[in-house]
Amino acid sequence: MSKDKEYYQSEEYKRKSLKTELYHDNFQNYKRYNIPPAQLVIADIPYNQGNNAYASNPQWYKDGEIEKGQSDKAGEQFFNTDSNFNIAEYMHFCSSLLKKEPEESGEAPAMIVFCAFEQMQMVIEYGKKHGFENSYPLFFVKNYSPQVLKANMRIVGATEHAVVLYRDKLPKFNNNGKMVYNWMEWPKNDSTPDIHPNQKPLPLLKKLIKIFTDKWEVVIDPVAGSAVTLKAAAETNRNSYGFEVDKDFFEEAQEKMLGNIQYSLSFEN
Ligand SMILES: C[S@@+](CC[C@H](N)C(=O)[O-])C[C@H]1O[C@@H](n2cnc3c(N)ncnc32)[C@H](O)[C@@H]1O
Repeated sequence: MSKDKEYYQSEEYKRKSLKTELYHDNFQNYKRYNIPPAQLVIADIPYNQGNNAYASNPQWYKDGEIEKGQSDKAGEQFFNTDSNFNIAEYMHFCSSLLKKEPEESGEAPAMIVFCAFEQMQMVIEYGKKHGFENSYPLFFVKNYSPQVLKANMRIVGATEHAVVLYRDKLPKFNNNGKMVYNWMEWPKNDSTPDIHPNQKPLPLLKKLIKIFTDKWEVVIDPVAGSAVTLKAAAETNRNSYGFEVDKDFFEEAQEKMLGNIQYSLSFEN
């Protein structure tokens, strides 16, 4: 092999050319960008929670403390697009940008959609309409509950949910010979800057990315929020692309979440 070819196939070259790109745009405009086919799309779709959005978030009250009374977040929705998200366009995006179904087994791409429990069936049905015939649910358990409304009158929610969707062949699966259960712990996120009310924990995203992709592959988050998915991808040596339409979230994500990305020097996974 020539020296040049050797270099272009080396870990050093792949790391140097690793991409972590967040676009301030609607994901629907993806054709403006030259995004390579993805092995995994992870998205946390808006929950359509309307004016009860903060009912599962301490910010409903001033400084998160009930005694201090309601804050200006009480009765507000999380962000402008929370109630008019177009799931059909989202599925179209995924079917266009996910890698085509490969011939060999163990290489198929996957989509992970974080959503409210009530949205799971709807996500599965829309997936089927767009060629993602197969799915299974994921459950995440917390040892705390952010639910504040009527918390002394009912059992409070301490779970999160997602659906894994795929076309035909089972998606790539790096399990290191161990069974992976469909429930996982939801770590409290304390290592990333607090940017978004729906921000997902970095360690959990890294875990999922490592299961469903190999190093140097492509991960996309079409509704990136704080861009923590992109950070998780970068820190595990995956290329990543994301969209965020809200200017404030986008700017904070660029500056605080992605500003000091250090690609991992370890060769994990
Ligand atoms: C549920 S939040 C994502 C939170 C993110 N997973 C995190 O951990 O920070 C959904 C985000 O999608 C954005 N959004 C909604 N519709 C969009 C669209 N068409 N294109 C790009 N972003 C969109 C919203 O502004 C919101 O910040």
